[in-house]
Amino acid sequence: MTARIGTELDEAVRRLRAGELVAIPTETVYGLAANALDERACLRIFEAKRRPAFDPLIVHVRSAEHAREFVRELPVDAERLMRAFWPGPLTLVLPKRELVPDIVTSGLDTVAVRAPAHPLTAQLLARLEFPLAAPSANLFGRMSPTRAEDVVEQLGDELEYVLDGGSCEVGVESTILGWEEGRCVLYRPGGTPLELLEPLIGPVRVASQHSEHAPRVAAAAPGMLAAHYAPRTPLVIEANAAHPLAAGEALLAFRHARPAHACEVLSATGDLREAASRLFAALRRLDRAGATRIVAELAPERGLGRAINDRLRRAAAAST
Ligand code: TXA
Ligand code: MG
Repeated sequence: MTARIGTELDEAVRRLRAGELVAIPTETVYGLAANALDERACLRIFEAKRRPAFDPLIVHVRSAEHAREFVRELPVDAERLMRAFWPGPLTLVLPKRELVPDIVTSGLDTVAVRAPAHPLTAQLLARLEFPLAAPSANLFGRMSPTRAEDVVEQLGDELEYVLDGGSCEVGVESTILGWEEGRCVLYRPGGTPLELLEPLIGPVRVASQHSEHAPRVAAAAPGMLAAHYAPRTPLVIEANAAHPLAAGEALLAFRHARPAHACEVLSATGDLREAASRLFAALRRLDRAGATRIVAELAPERGLGRAINDRLRRAAAAST
């Protein structure tokens, strides 16, 4: 089986209704989608990605109203955020209702919900009677796909259809927020920068590097999730920018190209949005360049730079 790439909503609808997997475009990265209310379909997601069962899935919904069908409680701040940023790259972790299957939430009492902003996927959700559980459409621990072809390269044998929505505009995964004892916590920096969230809801506590996941999940898998988003070529974060690269080393530069075995510049003008949108595609090209290792410069630690640096640090952690 090799997945076909196409733009037919009818086919995606038919397959999803039949309990099959379909890869879908979102504004962040491509997702590997199934009917979130169908346990067997969701189990296929874990098998296809070779994803451990302790790592819960995001449930993609049409709207805030749709999300209410699956969450039990909605803090005022969550409502405010949905109004301001949905549809968009923001995932909210909230107390779940009974009808969300345990396999989706890895047995947690919370469910992650988000309304994606991609027009094709919005149309798809509007036609379906159920929400879509969808992790990024890559093998567990590997780089997220930002084009339909990237999905086929990693998961082509695991599904039949990839809904093609072009290159993902944002390029890094959604920001994930939750509430612990009434206080908002950032589990994963992503496409909606903290600088946009805090003016609306006040200071957000940043969960430690290692807990992209709810505390219970992180405790069950200590350290494991720090390593993620990895190319095959070993990746290191550049400690000293003045240091020349060794023979065979490729460079992921933020702004300025330098002599290297291969070099990718994320944004020549230093634009963090452009840099984020190019991150995974640039890493994929460097991964194919036959380098001994990839040396990555960090972006400025603000706005989308936080999400870019988070992914690079996790990729580096996976290489050690
Ligand atoms: O932009 C995105 O978020 C993309 C697109 C496809 O929507 N999806 C994505 O999914 O990045 P995934 O599965 O690669 O990452 C979602 C993360 C998981 O690592 C999981 O730890 C966290 O969301 N998550 C899901 N449910 C959770 C929950 N109930 N509590 C805490 N974390 C949760
Ligand atoms: Mg992922």
